[in-house]
Amino acid sequence: MADDVCSLAELTRGAVSAAMRAALPAELAEADPLIRRSEHADYQANAAMSLAKKAGRKPRDLADAIAGALREDPAAGLAVEVSGPGFLNLSVTDRAVWRQVAARLADDRLGVGTPQLGRRTVVEYSSPNIAKEMHVGHLRTTIIGDALARLLEYLGAEVLRQNHLGDWGTQFGMLIQFIDEHPDAKWRAQDLAEGDAGTVSALDGLYRQARAKFDADPEFADRARRRVVTLQSGDEATLAVWRELVRESEKAFQVIYDYLGVSLNAQHSAGESTYNRYLDEVAAEVEASGVGQISDGALCVFFDGVTGADGNPVPLIVRKSDGGYGYATTDLAAIRYRIRDLKMNRLIYVVGAPQALHFRMVFDTARRLGWLTDDVEAVHIAFGNVLGPDGKPFKTRAGGTVRLVELLDEAVARARAEIETKPHTLEPQELDVVARQAGIGAVKYADLATSRTKDYSFDPDRMVSFNGNTGVYLQYAHTRIRSILRKLPEDARTELDVDAPLHPAERGLILLNDQFAGTLTEVADTLEPHRLCGYLFSLAKAFTEFYEACPVLTAETEQLRANRVELCRLTGATLAEGLRLLGIETPDRM
Ligand code: ARG
Repeated sequence: MADDVCSLAELTRGAVSAAMRAALPAELAEADPLIRRSEHADYQANAAMSLAKKAGRKPRDLADAIAGALREDPAAGLAVEVSGPGFLNLSVTDRAVWRQVAARLADDRLGVGTPQLGRRTVVEYSSPNIAKEMHVGHLRTTIIGDALARLLEYLGAEVLRQNHLGDWGTQFGMLIQFIDEHPDAKWRAQDLAEGDAGTVSALDGLYRQARAKFDADPEFADRARRRVVTLQSGDEATLAVWRELVRESEKAFQVIYDYLGVSLNAQHSAGESTYNRYLDEVAAEVEASGVGQISDGALCVFFDGVTGADGNPVPLIVRKSDGGYGYATTDLAAIRYRIRDLKMNRLIYVVGAPQALHFRMVFDTARRLGWLTDDVEAVHIAFGNVLGPDGKPFKTRAGGTVRLVELLDEAVARARAEIETKPHTLEPQELDVVARQAGIGAVKYADLATSRTKDYSFDPDRMVSFNGNTGVYLQYAHTRIRSILRKLPEDARTELDVDAPLHPAERGLILLNDQFAGTLTEVADTLEPHRLCGYLFSLAKAFTEFYEACPVLTAETEQLRANRVELCRLTGATLAEGLRLLGIETPDRM
């Protein structure tokens, strides 16, 4: 990055700080100037109000003193007014505002720094279960996790994406036994005819058949249970089938990730089985440390205030009474591995809200064991449910779980229909691509724009609308900017003139562009992507206001046109970059 591009808010803070040092006694001069956005000017500084008591002076006196110093500093670039009991209203000069457009455009990161440098961050997300199809329940973790990973990485964090696949457990005994007893069962990709619904659907079918047999036939259930033991003891023939199940499933997940444009691949797979080799050691440590206790033959960790409906304590079970390990032990091994071996200092688990208690117990146990220290942050990023279009829990008509691929297909089809209602010049092949970008973008945006903890309805008609707070609206705003820039004559003047007059709509748009880096920092700190969505929506609306008030290609003078073109360029770049960080593509035309 070139020189750091400070935002106008930062420049304003700097100027007011300098004025405070020039005008106030030493004990007040270093205080925070308290810069906020203002309704009456660009910013206001509230420092005089907060310092008055300590100084034993009227806030108005202090404000006058700071204002005086600001007026004497030509480099401040601020018009200043004292208002009310002692607020400083600050307006950035037109020059400084225009200069900001040039400064951001000159930086290929648009003034975004790397505040996450030094953070070694695990983002664990998606984590579907092997031999089952991805369903609506995996949508949010996959979308939110991917957006967070992209954004943190861009801000300088070293990000390790982890897909904690459910690839171990008693169900594999059942599946492998069933496959053995039904050699004709069709579940491998090579068994499927072209156009078949895909391996994971086939695997899903296998799962259902095996389950039905398990429930109906006690002798099969016994054989399946023995097969689990064979698998766990490392029997090579059994492991070979297990590996094939995992591989076939992963292939099918990858198809969905590619369709979704999610940056997960095989390199990020670290399924539950990855941690098998550590489970004995982890349990031994839990027991020896005294953090765990034997209760009814099982090794358990208990927590203050964690009780079930019957009032009895709910433990984290580290080793079952039969000596077996489960989901919780795996998570303990995983957190230890991530901290101790991978040396990560921020652990982000993007997993549905129902697992909140599980993660509380895992994190608390890891803390008591001394693995999780104050230098490491572990957070469960929970999220609300995806509801059906009627606002009720999302089920198929038959009451089953909704397949993810069907939802995506539906959104893409609706996006295509929506695009086709408008006059467009897309070639058929381009239309295919743009419909996918719009449909997938719409799904992602609808998910990310809802504050994480809330539920939302999966309503494709609303999602793909060109109006309102939708992904398609933002993509469309971006294409409008691209189209303006395409129409610019090649020999047009492009240097921005900082002495050009500045329209209020231009000022509004530039000030919003200026908040981009700050918004990203906020999302990285709060892990709330909806803030970026809200920001981009405001930016697109401000662009519309600007475009209505300020003709670009037909501006009154060549100089004004050049300035406005640069402002279009900046806004287009900010929109595209913001959407890219959310995992949303930006077609050039739609
Ligand atoms: N496979 C689990 C599921 O589908 C999610 C795994 C969550 N991650 C974890 N570390 N426990 O519910």
